[in-house]
Amino acid sequence: RKRVGVLISGRGSNLQALLDAAGEPDCPFEIVLVLSNKPDVQGLARAAAAGVATAVVPHRDFADRESFERAVTETLETAQVDLVCQAGFMRVVTGWFVARWHNRLLNIHPSLLPAFPGLDTHSRALAAGVKLHGCSVHLVRETVDEGPILGQAAVPVLPDDDAESLAARVLQAEHRLYPTCLKLYAAGRIRLQGETARADSAAEPLQLMIN
Ligand code: GAR
Repeated sequence: RKRVGVLISGRGSNLQALLDAAGEPDCPFEIVLVLSNKPDVQGLARAAAAGVATAVVPHRDFADRESFERAVTETLETAQVDLVCQAGFMRVVTGWFVARWHNRLLNIHPSLLPAFPGLDTHSRALAAGVKLHGCSVHLVRETVDEGPILGQAAVPVLPDDDAESLAARVLQAEHRLYPTCLKLYAAGRIRLQGETARADSAAEPLQLMIN
């Protein structure tokens, strides 16, 4: 089983979905460490409840991004992590960190990339009038919210949506998509052709349509 470290900054509902999947029989990954850049967040309590080791590395204790990331990396290495999953980790990472974890660092982003990188994706999707919105799991590259897309889930945008109702629908999709993608990636069933990720033909669908 691949050893996974999860990076969080808050609520940790995606972490919970990954913890739940790790508890299923034959799951190809285990979560060995949950690391937060913020103390006292709900995600740390979720990890503790699941019996998973936690660490807090407060980014404000460091002079710059890279020294923060060196401390994060040291903690991940001590836990002998194979793969790192950003799950609501609200820090932009440097080229150093991306290179250090090349093709071993995953992120979930609340939009159908390459649409709506960055923050406030749900209100921007509503303002743009898109009829489908969703989430993406991708390998992290130096440009924020760019990198080989492992899987995407689409949800409808409904006439009465506000940012909150749309975010809640997307979040449900996130909770299905992230474990699906991580299981396949950890099992070596998604391969890179250049910067394009391709799942083997027996893989379960990595396009989820959810309504
Ligand atoms: C999720 O919607 C995730 O996609 C988003 O933050 C939320 C975290 O929720 N991530 C980003 O916006 C990354 N830039 P969670 O803590 O309950 O998983």
